[in-house]
Amino acid sequence: MTSDDFEKLLEELTNVGGPSGFEEPVRLIVERELAPVIDGREIDGLGSSISTLNNGTSRYRVLLTAHMDELGLLVKRITPEGFLKFQPIGGWLPQAIIGQRWIVKTHKGEINGITGIKTIHVMSPKERGEVFDIDGMFIDVGATSDEDARNRLGIRPGDAVYPDSKFKALEGGSRFIGKAWDDRVGVAVLIQVMKGLAEAKAPITVVGAATVQEEIGLRGAQTSGYLAEADIAINLESGVAGDYPSISLDEAQEEIGGGPSIFFHDSSMIPNTKFRDFVVDLAERENIPIQFNVLSGYGQDGSAIQRTRGGVPVVNIGVPTRYLHSHQGLVARSDIEECVRLVTKIVMSFTDDVVENLRSFD
Ligand code: CO
Repeated sequence: MTSDDFEKLLEELTNVGGPSGFEEPVRLIVERELAPVIDGREIDGLGSSISTLNNGTSRYRVLLTAHMDELGLLVKRITPEGFLKFQPIGGWLPQAIIGQRWIVKTHKGEINGITGIKTIHVMSPKERGEVFDIDGMFIDVGATSDEDARNRLGIRPGDAVYPDSKFKALEGGSRFIGKAWDDRVGVAVLIQVMKGLAEAKAPITVVGAATVQEEIGLRGAQTSGYLAEADIAINLESGVAGDYPSISLDEAQEEIGGGPSIFFHDSSMIPNTKFRDFVVDLAERENIPIQFNVLSGYGQDGSAIQRTRGGVPVVNIGVPTRYLHSHQGLVARSDIEECVRLVTKIVMSFTDDVVENLRSFD
């Protein structure tokens, strides 16, 4: 895949709408990309897509995971005036929801809308300093009434809503802005790594799971992790960049352009220490820049995989991302490419002996 083709894939993956529970458009892209190289595929009962590259001789299976879903909203009801009240899906800050453009996925097609913000002209000084309350928010789709929204626009309670925010390449293509890098950047890495491993003939059976519903509690990782029967696993995520004004190094330690990050702690998981050190040593040996992150919050699919069957050694590897869980995120091309290189090298080193050693506590 040329670097232009890869940029196009990133653009397609970030532009497409797929809030938790509504990931199908993302899944179709993953399956289209992987179909020519994989040996088998199954979809679990929740909708995660699990692809396999078989190695007939290895004793072990490595699982690579990345989640397809993004933050969104769900239409709760339509007011008599035609405004949409909603349920947030995933961890939104109220400030990130208000005053934005959105796309509503109806059974008739996609509709544009905005979360209108009360005008400053009528506010008291006290009200101007307050954070907007999610319960008071609504989407304006230009409908004239409840009936107009239902009949003309085709909107129904339960319809999914996602951020209206389009991909753009900055700095000659070295930086990309867009929504949903969490975790479409991980999905892009998963696709590239699987393609590379198919070509290089990995020494181990590789299972690649594009999971659903991570943002609402790692749900797809539980079901696909059960099916994958992994002996060792790597979760591919958007990392948390701590390199812009208003964030401190005590909150997040990785930076854009510094290479992929390995998480030593987040609130959902402590990685297997042997595997963690193996990754750090390998990156050093291969001259791949790597960063470390210790977060007190956050949660990721790796923690669900870690607890499948009798317990699985897992690491979480991130592509540093600024402004997560909002309409506009920023990632660097070099971090994505180095992440692909690192994960490919790790899996290519997985002979039976290496995996056996990583799994052992001796
Ligand atoms: Co994520």
